[in-house]
Amino acid sequence: MKVFVATKNSGKLAEMRAIFAGSVLELETYDRYTDVDETADDYIGNARLKARALYEQLQEAGIAAAVLADDSGLEVDALGGRPGVLSARYAGKNVSWHERRQHLLRELENVSNDQRGGAFMCTFVLIMSNGTEIDAVGTLPGMIAPKEHGDSGFGYDPIFIPKGENRTFGEFSFDEKNAVSHRRRAADNLLAKLSSKE
Ligand code: IMP
Repeated sequence: MKVFVATKNSGKLAEMRAIFAGSVLELETYDRYTDVDETADDYIGNARLKARALYEQLQEAGIAAAVLADDSGLEVDALGGRPGVLSARYAGKNVSWHERRQHLLRELENVSNDQRGGAFMCTFVLIMSNGTEIDAVGTLPGMIAPKEHGDSGFGYDPIFIPKGENRTFGEFSFDEKNAVSHRRRAADNLLAKLSSKE
């Protein structure tokens, strides 16, 4: 099934393409996709806003197709779940990713290693060409490293250590991350839901 993806984040798109490769979903991008404001207060609400926006934009262009959107974020226990749904805008809209990670490390400056738990969260919303919606969630527990390590991936990857590992995602290869990530987990859940509907 051909599916248009509602994202302008090249890091996410590359991972989604790799994760869904060989599945029943063939990912496509729509150059004229116009991003929406993420005004919902949870991941599923924001993923729905993005998916419905692209679905409508395609319909207006005369294209009746399925769409897929994801909303994701990093939840830090010691910060009561922040930055969470606001992860992309944490520490300000126009700051660099290095600055955003440093801001988070400063907020956790006096937090000991055993209190630095958190999780990456991902929610997918798939809208089929007939308008039916399916959603799925993936969670990956881990901890926030005391400092940055590695420069693979994107966003918070250099400061996130998945549970049971001693390296950050910044030190994982692209394929290693995609085999275990929150996005992988959400994708597996989505594909399982999809196949149980067939
Ligand atoms: P949104 O889903 O567009 O709201 O953006 C989510 C934000 O969460 C991204 O811009 C990243 O900052 C962060 N994030 C989500 N997934 C990942 C990941 O796999 N690695 C690093 N950061 C991530």
